[in-house]
Amino acid sequence: RLSEPEAIIASLAASTGSSASPVANRALAGLRVVVSAGPTYEDLDPVRYLGNRSSGKMGFAIADSARRRGAEVVLVAGPVHLATPPGVRRVDVRSAAQMHQAVFAAFPADIYIGAAAVADYTPRMPAANKIKKSNESLALDLVRTPDILSEVAAQAEGLKLVVGFAAETENVAGYARGKLVAKHLDLIVANRVGVADGGFESDQNAMTAYWQDGERTFTPGAKTRLADDLIDLIVERLDA
Ligand code: C5P
Repeated sequence: RLSEPEAIIASLAASTGSSASPVANRALAGLRVVVSAGPTYEDLDPVRYLGNRSSGKMGFAIADSARRRGAEVVLVAGPVHLATPPGVRRVDVRSAAQMHQAVFAAFPADIYIGAAAVADYTPRMPAANKIKKSNESLALDLVRTPDILSEVAAQAEGLKLVVGFAAETENVAGYARGKLVAKHLDLIVANRVGVADGGFESDQNAMTAYWQDGERTFTPGAKTRLADDLIDLIVERLDA
């Protein structure tokens, strides 16, 4: 006799290592979620840029997970080589300035999840022509980029939950809690980078989420499953 559809889905989810609960879990139905993902590239001249090692995998998995929970999702993506999750509206950007603009253009929204590794500094004046190697050393004149996450938390109206990420190499809990307060976030997700099998470029991750009066360490594993776990926590915090 054929098993019940829910049982088939649960068994498939278990065999793929996903915690995906039955398709019927549409806890985010009716909500609009904006997710930023990937690195930003800050152009130095027409052929060179300052970038970072973010792959975008975590943010794309989060967008996919939120969509499967019924949300309307806008994914603002830096330069990455990833397929757009089904049903997600994707806006491609390159620089921190463009990401800033695209994120605010995507509002109003109910939830913002800043998973992008936004450059902290950008060249004051990108060179119009290719920079020549004329001197023995070269100093770059860089200026701070806008902190998109802080501005969202401070300015965007109607948001029910603002979630940030912290990629740290040391004192993970301390720095993460510091950012939770400084950036006025509802939730911050910290992951330790620079260790084997986690963080940038990997399909695996190890994460702990912190909020004002609590924390949760997720079982390390596939970013796709961790995205589902994070969305479950977000649903809980929305109701808290
Ligand atoms: O301060 P730090 O860069 O470690 O904070 C990381 C968090 O802030 C991430 O959620 C990232 O997306 C966000 N961020 C941002 N704009 C910046 C720098 C970081 O939105 N210019």
